[in-house]
Amino acid sequence: MCGIVAYIGPQNAYEIVIKGLQRLEYRGYDSSGVAIHNSKKVNVFKQKGKVQDLIDFAANKDTKGKLAIGHTRWATHGLPNDINAHPHQSGDKKISLVHNGIIENYAILKEELEQRGHQFESETDTEVLVHLIEEIHKNSKYDLFDAVRIALNEVIGAYAIVIINSDNPNELIAARKSSPLVVGIGEEEYFCASDATPIIEYTKNVVYLEDGEIAQISLTNGLKLKTIANQEKTPYIQELEMHLEALEKGGYDHFMLKEIYEQPQSIKDSMRGRISISKSKVALGGILDYEEKLINAKRLIFVACGTSWHAGLVGEYLLEEIARIPVEVEYASEFRYRNPIIGEDDFVIAISQSGETADTLAALKLAKERGATLMGICNVVGSSISRETDCGSYTHAGPEIGVASTKAFTAQVTILTLMAMMIGRRKGTITNKRFNRLLVEMKAIPDKLKTVLKENDLIEKIAKIYYQSTNALYLGRGINFPLALEGALKLKEISYIHAEGYPAAEMKHGPIALIDEEMPVFVIATKDSSYEKIVSNIQEVKARKGKIIAIVTQGDKEVKKIADHYIEIPKCDELLVPLLATVPLQLLSYHIALLRECNVDQPRNLAKSVTVE
Ligand code: AGP
Repeated sequence: MCGIVAYIGPQNAYEIVIKGLQRLEYRGYDSSGVAIHNSKKVNVFKQKGKVQDLIDFAANKDTKGKLAIGHTRWATHGLPNDINAHPHQSGDKKISLVHNGIIENYAILKEELEQRGHQFESETDTEVLVHLIEEIHKNSKYDLFDAVRIALNEVIGAYAIVIINSDNPNELIAARKSSPLVVGIGEEEYFCASDATPIIEYTKNVVYLEDGEIAQISLTNGLKLKTIANQEKTPYIQELEMHLEALEKGGYDHFMLKEIYEQPQSIKDSMRGRISISKSKVALGGILDYEEKLINAKRLIFVACGTSWHAGLVGEYLLEEIARIPVEVEYASEFRYRNPIIGEDDFVIAISQSGETADTLAALKLAKERGATLMGICNVVGSSISRETDCGSYTHAGPEIGVASTKAFTAQVTILTLMAMMIGRRKGTITNKRFNRLLVEMKAIPDKLKTVLKENDLIEKIAKIYYQSTNALYLGRGINFPLALEGALKLKEISYIHAEGYPAAEMKHGPIALIDEEMPVFVIATKDSSYEKIVSNIQEVKARKGKIIAIVTQGDKEVKKIADHYIEIPKCDELLVPLLATVPLQLLSYHIALLRECNVDQPRNLAKSVTVE
């Protein structure tokens, strides 16, 4: 996903922008660039590759200036190369622009502009936008701020943009639609960025631009906000809760490992203020106003992608078991194009760590058009998905920087568990006794997770045995089947080993043909209602020389005897096993990826948040 950073103020703009781009590297990108205003001139430096390549390129060049914009590009239109890298400039080189998103009608606009004599250097949609702004600015009475606004009215698509103009050293212009953009307000200085991470070390006062808003930021007139429909808006200044150290690796080798180890705390944070054992109560404040609607909903439909989709599958088991409410779990990328049957009785719930996943946002908007009530379970406050919904619950897992989602997943499952308990209590589909026992068990999960994390050395040893495998199978039954999918995804996306998750009972319908002595089979085989059956599945695999790595309940006897390796997790209610059994799978994929010398935090071809289709 692209990243934007901009600065205007008394400091060295280039240094601040470059440091900001480095903070955004986690989003995944293939090129980067900066434009720096320096007395009536704008110097542009851009390079394919990493931000370090840009730094090396600009090392002996004039990077002085107090106004700059920067960009990390994840290619959507046009190959990753120097020419297609942002910033892009108008024909007269006076206007420079960076953009995150997609201009869907760029081809038509480009044709019209070429007919008016515009010449383009790149293959990008972004360059078309800056030329459109130039065309309007030059051939109308509008100042640049209004020229940008007029141009954006002609654009179809998603954008977060920041613009500087060589004729005005005191002004930044920023705008957003469907792609996030944050304005940081400092002492006599302003920042813009795709998220708060490049801003937080300078100021905690931020304004999250809303869709369709455009900001004029100047050292003389401050921050002026309006819609692209020309309606004045009052900026809503929030104070950031994040702390810079949350963004550092905190002593761990990788963000992913840090985030795996943060899970006892992040699950605690997800529950904070939402459960009370003494009052025998669960309350998700963000959905209280819609509790009646939730309780009477004919069905719940989850829309999500990737790991968040797996959380939705766990949620299906929880909500159908505890709250007896029908649940459907949809890939957002399928749902949005399928002409689904959605009505006013439906509750559509988007699950998304970033809150910016394009497919999930589009699925939500489709549900909205058809009258459904919308809820969000997001991790990023102020994210696009969270602002599209009628109600929702933030997971409060803290920033998740590693591309492979870990603590966000267990936080999502935590919220879904609390939601199932809250609805079940109101509907009377769960006894007080079981409700209270689940409450006590939920409260105990963070400490039990700490016990699981102590298995890290054993898990690393197991990883050393299997890291050269070319394939892997993950098996689980019931609520642990989605864990099998999640474990397989983790391994695939960071170690590049082909892995499949399967319902254990499905093995006999084909996949068992894959089993041989080269195939590691990871099985969630905890003590639950289907324990005997999963033991038989393990025996079926063993009979065909497959290697079994089992996740078992502490004190297990039977599986330990037949598995090649086992990892013990503390006993807990079978509905809460996903919160504990996920962690060994996360650690397994982490260690295997390290042994394979893969880039754990920024795996190839992947971005932290997929904001394009
Ligand atoms: C999970 O490890 C992946 N990074 C990916 O599948 C991710 O879960 C998916 O892209 C959805 O992202 P979101 O939760 O931010 O919407």
